[in-house]
Amino acid sequence: MKLSLISAIAPLALVATAAPAGCNFDLVGFAKDNPIGPTTGGKGGQVVTVTTPEQLVAAVAGDAPKIIYAKGRFNLTSRLRVGSNKSILGTGKGAEISQSGITIANATNVIVRNLGIRFIVDNDGITIQNSTRVWIDHNEFSSDINKGPDFYDGQVDIIRASDWVTVSWNYFHDHWKSSLIGNSDALRAVDSGHLHITYHHNHWRNSGTRGPAGRFGHQHVYNNLYEDFLYQAIHSRSDNQVLVEGNVFRGKTREALSTYGLVIPEDSPNTSPDGDFEIDGFANLGAKNDWGPASINITQVGNFTKAPYKYKLTKLNDVKKTVLAGSGLGQI
Ligand SMILES: *[C@@H]1O[C@H](CO)[C@@H](O)[C@H](O)[C@H]1NC(C)=O
Ligand SMILES: *[C@@H]1O[C@H](CO)[C@@H](O)[C@H](O)[C@H]1NC(C)=O
Ligand SMILES: *[C@@H]1O[C@H](CO)[C@@H](O)[C@H](O)[C@H]1NC(C)=O
Ligand SMILES: *[C@@H]1O[C@H](CO)[C@@H](O)[C@H](O)[C@H]1NC(C)=O
Ligand SMILES: *[C@@H]1O[C@H](CO)[C@@H](O)[C@H](O)[C@H]1NC(C)=O
Ligand SMILES: *[C@@H]1O[C@H](CO)[C@@H](O)[C@H](O)[C@H]1NC(C)=O
Repeated sequence: MKLSLISAIAPLALVATAAPAGCNFDLVGFAKDNPIGPTTGGKGGQVVTVTTPEQLVAAVAGDAPKIIYAKGRFNLTSRLRVGSNKSILGTGKGAEISQSGITIANATNVIVRNLGIRFIVDNDGITIQNSTRVWIDHNEFSSDINKGPDFYDGQVDIIRASDWVTVSWNYFHDHWKSSLIGNSDALRAVDSGHLHITYHHNHWRNSGTRGPAGRFGHQHVYNNLYEDFLYQAIHSRSDNQVLVEGNVFRGKTREALSTYGLVIPEDSPNTSPDGDFEIDGFANLGAKNDWGPASINITQVGNFTKAPYKYKLTKLNDVKKTVLAGSGLGQI
């Protein structure tokens, strides 16, 4: 009895992803449900394992579907340019990327999971530019917050008409400017109608601004945990629309959500002492959020009232423990 039960279960245990209780690690949101098809990365393509920066650079080039297992530390001397139809998957407790970050530009169908991306000095941790169908999942992004807002750049910045992106189960910490969507007023016409992004079950801790900050697009921000997100977390400006639900704020956060167009001086200290003025954005609140001690400033309620896909909200009381148990490296 016992033996046959074990042998029947064992093969399943080998293939199943052991997500902690209450966690579902399947792709959800705009990178899955969108008009051009689900993000599949390198599915069906060649499977390779890389252990040096040179091998990694070569493996991610071109548009042929490829699943790339990255093992160990990759101290990159220039930005990693990723072609279409790629899955980059850190092995074990995660692969480490340092010095230079990752650029996904003019590409489609890219998955990045289980990478530790830290102290990137040349630019953003990941820049997604003019690209569609991207899934950024179960990574850890960190540097330090002591050098002010402009020493490092963003952790995940999504720009130039990029679309259909999901950012899930990442751990973003010890970094000032986390995630910017739409990086220039001059690109209003290029960006408008794009920048549909889902942020869910991410853990932010000890961050400054942009969790995320969006212009010109639509973002669904749900079930994220924010701890000590110091100045301003979710910012929707320049006609951007956010749907914000089931998020939890703990520790010190001045402002959890704002649609007031002013770019606060803590985010943009080099221009005017009052910050930069942009026009306001819009926000809708779905399922209840727990703002903790943080304030919110919704100047315009928008029309992004419902996400156009299926997703399951984690109960508000379970968000903190679920995100702590399931986010970051070594989970997939
Ligand atoms: C990466 O290489 C640079 C020199 O190119 C070096 O200064 C830096 O310490 C290295 N970083 C890591 C994490 O190994
Ligand atoms: C790979 O990406 C290109 C876009 O650059 C796309 O046209 C092509 O269909 C993709 N190939 C496969 C096999 O998915
Ligand atoms: C994207 O493609 C355009 C048009 O081919 C090109 O001008 C631009 O340099 C590309 N961007 C990047 C970052 O490679
Ligand atoms: C965006 O990427 C596509 C390829 O996917 C390219 O044809 C187009 O020129 C790029 N546009 C810009 C503004 O870089
Ligand atoms: C909230 O928005 C209004 C504009 O509608 C602005 O006057 C006010 O200063 C904002 N509050 C904060 C705390 O930024
Ligand atoms: C939603 O609101 C924006 C901003 O007012 C507007 O431009 C857009 O047309 C509206 N969309 C729909 C479907 O009503």
